[in-house]
Amino acid sequence: MIRGERLSLTITGLAFGGDAVGRAPDGRVVFVAGGVPGDQLRIEVDEAKRDFARASLLEVLSPGASRVAARCPLSGSCGGCQWQEVALAVQRAAKQAVVIRALGRLGCTIDPLCAPSDGFGYRTRARLTVGDGAIGFQARRSHRVIDVTTCPLLHPALDAALAEARRAAFGQMDPGGTIAGLVGRGDLVHLALEGLRAGAAATARTLIGRAGIVGLVLDAVRFGARDIDTAGASEPPFHAAADGFAQAGDTGNHALRRIVAASAGSSGRTLELYAGDGNFTRDLVAAGHDVLAVEGDPAAIARLRRNVPAATATAEPAERAALRLASQGEKFDLVLIDPPRAGARPLLPSLARLTSRLIYVSCDPMTLARDARDLAAAGLRPIRATALDLMPQTYHVEVVCLFERAG
Ligand SMILES: C[S@@+](CC[C@H](N)C(=O)[O-])C[C@H]1O[C@@H](n2cnc3c(N)ncnc32)[C@H](O)[C@@H]1O
Repeated sequence: MIRGERLSLTITGLAFGGDAVGRAPDGRVVFVAGGVPGDQLRIEVDEAKRDFARASLLEVLSPGASRVAARCPLSGSCGGCQWQEVALAVQRAAKQAVVIRALGRLGCTIDPLCAPSDGFGYRTRARLTVGDGAIGFQARRSHRVIDVTTCPLLHPALDAALAEARRAAFGQMDPGGTIAGLVGRGDLVHLALEGLRAGAAATARTLIGRAGIVGLVLDAVRFGARDIDTAGASEPPFHAAADGFAQAGDTGNHALRRIVAASAGSSGRTLELYAGDGNFTRDLVAAGHDVLAVEGDPAAIARLRRNVPAATATAEPAERAALRLASQGEKFDLVLIDPPRAGARPLLPSLARLTSRLIYVSCDPMTLARDARDLAAAGLRPIRATALDLMPQTYHVEVVCLFERAG
């Protein structure tokens, strides 16, 4: 196989990252975007390495049984999702397989995948990027922005509010700017715009009151509601903000919270790192845990203090807090961590000194597997993991993994 060569390929699987996978006649694995298991494709080789190649899809010669019609005309060009043409059950089997490959060989039991939401309309939080004459999501493997006027993955209230914001912001924002939205109780929406051009704030402020928009953050300045209540119908208020972190979908988050709470059990002295606004803290405290919550973003910690007054909260980098507590000889019945995609490598030596029981919530099974190997070497072994499909139509998969010290 050489660059520019054209050949036909049968797709046999889906890889983490979104590409479809097949094997070339010479045995090399070939990664190609847009393929579906069972497809017979005509492809062109873009890059050929010793063990694998990357290729572009030229034509679907014969569609696989799991190929479905995409709902969005931008599917294939927009990088917001990768698998709209793959039947949902096949997407989910691929995600479960990724997690089994990542953790199974460490002796971890993998529960059946949890799939809490339907395939569309589930995103209650999203961020659009401003490009050159476009506002939308970035194209696959590119920084080019694809203009997105509507997205079937978005909750209808978020779709309508972002469409309104796009119209107001078009030509008023610098490339690289962002428009983020978060849906709360009663389908009200909080928005955050970053990168407004001089003089554009007055127009942007008129968004309040349109399409359910109750609050705006314009380049860090707040107008209207400062944040939004995202709690479920029978829950105490939970304040979150469009310029802060929230899980991608509300239904998925409820399932994630249930799994984390079930793994945590009731009571105990608990350290929570990367606590955000207190999404899990509220359930830990409700179950009787005495929680020390650590979060790097001071605005998030301020919301956490309001959301969960009974927790002790500190605004501090997780690495520093873990090292400080371990050096002081502190011990916790449980440590819960929910780090960003890069994982928790700098913390791992401290974690093993702080606890015999760790729950690791991960949005990247590759960094989770890397950290799990290091934790196992330090005595904390992965016992049980549950994968969750919180982002259908994309390759993303969330994992809740429980680690315990043997003996
Ligand atoms: C994946 S989010 C999880 C938040 C929360 N657990 C939730 O479910 O909403 C990761 C959080 O870690 C915070 N964060 C990122 N890097 C950090 C660091 N080095 N130290 C402490 N917090 C950090 C972010 O601000 C964010 O709130």
